[in-house]
Amino acid sequence: MSMGTSEAVLHVLSGAVPRLFSSDLCSSNLDLVFSSKYHIKSVNKKGSSYMQRFKCLRLARCQIGSYMCKPLGGGLYGNRAIGRLKLLRCKCERAESVSGVGMDEGNGAWFVDSAKKLNLNGSINSPNILEFEAVEQLKREKEGLTSNGTVGTGTSTFHKASVDSIEDEAWELLRDSMVYYCGSPIGTIAANDPTSSNVLNYDQVFIRDFIPSGIAFLLKGEYDIVRNFILHTLQLQSWEKTMDCHSPGQGLMPASFKVRTVPLDGDDSATEEVLDPDFGEAAIGRVAPVDSGLWWIILLRAYGKCSGDLSVQERVDVQTGIKMILRLCLADGFDMFPTLLVTDGSCMIDRRMGIHGHPLEIQALFYSALLCAREMLTPEDGSADLIRALNNRLVALSFHIREYYWIDMRKLNEIYRYKTEEYSYDAVNKFNIYPDQISPWLVEWMPNKGGFLIGNLQPAHMDFRFFSLGNLWAVASGLATTDQSHAILDLIEAKWADLVADMPFKICYPALEGREWQIITGSDPKNTPWSYHNGGSWPTLLWQLTVACMKMNRPEIAAKAISVAEKRISRDKWPEYYDTKKARFIGKQSHLFQTWSIAGYLVAKLLLADPNAAKILTTEEDSELVNAFSCMISANPRRKRGPKSLKQTYIV
Ligand code: GLC
Repeated sequence: MSMGTSEAVLHVLSGAVPRLFSSDLCSSNLDLVFSSKYHIKSVNKKGSSYMQRFKCLRLARCQIGSYMCKPLGGGLYGNRAIGRLKLLRCKCERAESVSGVGMDEGNGAWFVDSAKKLNLNGSINSPNILEFEAVEQLKREKEGLTSNGTVGTGTSTFHKASVDSIEDEAWELLRDSMVYYCGSPIGTIAANDPTSSNVLNYDQVFIRDFIPSGIAFLLKGEYDIVRNFILHTLQLQSWEKTMDCHSPGQGLMPASFKVRTVPLDGDDSATEEVLDPDFGEAAIGRVAPVDSGLWWIILLRAYGKCSGDLSVQERVDVQTGIKMILRLCLADGFDMFPTLLVTDGSCMIDRRMGIHGHPLEIQALFYSALLCAREMLTPEDGSADLIRALNNRLVALSFHIREYYWIDMRKLNEIYRYKTEEYSYDAVNKFNIYPDQISPWLVEWMPNKGGFLIGNLQPAHMDFRFFSLGNLWAVASGLATTDQSHAILDLIEAKWADLVADMPFKICYPALEGREWQIITGSDPKNTPWSYHNGGSWPTLLWQLTVACMKMNRPEIAAKAISVAEKRISRDKWPEYYDTKKARFIGKQSHLFQTWSIAGYLVAKLLLADPNAAKILTTEEDSELVNAFSCMISANPRRKRGPKSLKQTYIV
């Protein structure tokens, strides 16, 4: 190749993003609503930091005239909120909802037919299974055991659900978890567990937890809650945030937020609702929610694709929000790698688990968000540099992950024979990995057929643990190549007893034990071996598994996992996670009625019924990226060095 790699890449990519939407940005009627009706006010001093809150003194869009939220005598969640909502909702809301791909009807047939074809030995949720569940349920009730959901303050809704299908129950629970802000649904509470005495922040709307809820609503044709979520969290993004006088980068999205009802200034008899975000400044361990903004971009694209309403992503403020997230992620630092450098606990695993550095989960979400943003960005003056930086990063990132994170038998054997201390530009062992690092478990565990992306890569360190979300999202986003994606699914099949066992899906494998656990987790009692983040099993991961399976056209794997979950998830009251090597126990400190367990199951079922719908979440490289990537692969690894030529334009 005569051109330098980066030159070639840039050549291929310059001006690569097609003008997707010609938009008259000012014509969006949502714009009018959201731009003028909120008032930001600093209302509370907490220690040295000012907490800014987002107030609703007048209702958005659906409110006629001005509105002040009156005392509601309690929380804002669940059925109570629904009652209030009915009073406030006005006719215009329905009229405004956009017609899109209706997915709630007529697609059940695929599953039954396919299940027959797949010959799953009756292990799927066929009508027989549901009947079986119902019979079991009745038996339990007869025996006087606690039936589904009849806990503490449980209402008759739970009883009713026990005789309905698991799916109906899940929908009911999901709707009960909806959170309202000034009368409009804007998210779902993390857990709705009436038995829990230790709520912590599980009464908040978490950005990452809402994703499966949002997808379930989208696939059901209920778009309002997702649009509201997107637009309200966007407002939170521009909050001034500080922790001990330090402000994180602009563009950071919160980990979670809460709707609070507070007395109205100067009026003792009235209250108002405020949105109170947490950017990590109150979170346990003060962890930075790096994944929030990335998930937000992924959901925004899914919303547009599913509803057909592109007006949200075309709005000026939404475009700015996308760019702010991108700028934060693409900013120059000291890094040698194209992967995002983050602290421990900056994603779903939000406690210390030794995943600081360049964890796979963040890289997969980063790649996915870059591709989604690329599709949605409206080219305009001033964004060309950003788009170029984005394209450069996409290519470099996929190259880096596919090359250096991938392991299978062949690669493992290569690492096993690595020479070390190679000082040169064309070292084979670039990161100076000492072969002794290959853990004995991995030598046994690696199947002959299959492979996976390792958890993390740093100088002289490969974290060989299998992290599920990162691997599944690498498949969904196309960060893994087609061959690698199939190999990941092959490995899941080969290691079913370890990764699924009695409940899908293990968050990572294997668990840290003994001294390693002490040092790496800081002796965290919540993350003991085979519990919680340390090798616990999380039902919510079922939806990411299903997306990956649908993308690779291997639905039978997802169907099998769903059937495992169905055996007990509802009976166990939708736990947050399971413990032990085989996921036999409900997690030690697991919350029940965990919303993303419920929503994850629903999304998995909806996708199984309509695999095509997974396209709202999956991404593919377009031909420009494929070309740029192959240029990079075929380039001589000993790249020309020296002063930058004038033609090379690295722009950030
Ligand atoms: C736990 C999980 C985190 C999740 C939160 C709310 O902190 O580790 O991923 O978002 O609970 O469910």
